[in-house]
Amino acid sequence: MKEDIVNSFAAEFKHAPAAYSHAPGRLEILGNHTDYNEGYVLSCATGQATEMAISAIPGRICKLMNPPLQGVFTIDLDDMDKPRPKDWTNYIKGVLVELRRRGIEYPAFEVLFKSTVPLSAGMSSSAALEMAFCMALRQLCGIELPLPDWARIGQSVENVYLGLKSGLLDQFSSLYGKKNSFILCDFRSVEVLKTVAMPAGWKIVVANTMVKHNLVESDYNLRRESCERAAKAIRTKYPEVKALRDVTSAMLEECKPILDHTDYLRAKHVVGENERVMKGVELLSAGKVEEFGALLFASHESSRDCFENSCPELDILVELAHTIPGCVGARLSGGGFGGISIHLVRENDAEEYCRRLAAAYKLKTGKTIETIICSVGDGASSEPA
Ligand code: GLA
Repeated sequence: MKEDIVNSFAAEFKHAPAAYSHAPGRLEILGNHTDYNEGYVLSCATGQATEMAISAIPGRICKLMNPPLQGVFTIDLDDMDKPRPKDWTNYIKGVLVELRRRGIEYPAFEVLFKSTVPLSAGMSSSAALEMAFCMALRQLCGIELPLPDWARIGQSVENVYLGLKSGLLDQFSSLYGKKNSFILCDFRSVEVLKTVAMPAGWKIVVANTMVKHNLVESDYNLRRESCERAAKAIRTKYPEVKALRDVTSAMLEECKPILDHTDYLRAKHVVGENERVMKGVELLSAGKVEEFGALLFASHESSRDCFENSCPELDILVELAHTIPGCVGARLSGGGFGGISIHLVRENDAEEYCRRLAAAYKLKTGKTIETIICSVGDGASSEPA
């Protein structure tokens, strides 16, 4: 809550903040690894968010607090060129470096933030932090940039500063989310094509495997390279193909003989996902929730078999989803290689579903999961404190 953040800031820094911002996490509902292939994603912003209060101070040393973490963290504006390993201040420094590269000036500052977005759980806590900070600086310094540029700044933090070749999905969804809605994102034109109301009486349950993935060290970048190679090979037959976004299933099958087999499988997933997103939007708009759910299951199978970004823990959760009443679809969500699965569940069954899923998973694996009945929130915002 704004009041809590503003009061905490005043108590810690002994003066009132100048600006307040808020930026949510995101859930990828359908459309896996399609964003950097210039494709479509159906996503939403989570009710869980990062909230931040900020004010300008003289000098070159910035002070940051993130209760309940103890103490004051610092950033020296004259020493930001290299990220420090496993340090959350990298997300703030990265934004500062990217703004500087664009010739945008800012003063030193004091910042206090709190977040309800779970860490390393496939809900993009890092994008929420980046976008909360971007929105806070925008408000503090009156920086006027189109919204997609703020998303690109966050993406550059990941791509350039931290070395993960991720797409725009996380930052974009954090900025553009709409309460109780899914957004259909187009990552070629970088816009929201359509807002689709969440079906009434249904909830998204997040089941966190608690398997921590570090995407920088994972196969994420290799997957991206595979997709780019596949698009390049298909272009020799279809010169109009700029990215996998331009490829249909029929074209892909025709090109199968000229593709490396692994690249073919990766492309099959992405092409299928793009098609499933468009079909999914149609089904949701027609109120066909159960058929929409079937697409979630299909998406997971494709991740497991073609993109190979699932893991045994996620596969077990999705298998269980087929057997527990109330659920009509489930899939891994986000980068994969651990992280979360999302489950589309009847609202009245949601609590019981969480209990049964956790119990069945424990019985099968001996391990514990965390479940969250997710609320869908609005995108990022900023205002005077
Ligand atoms: C991660 C990346 C996104 C997107 C998803 C997979 O969340 O940050 O850009 O590629 O994986 O869809």
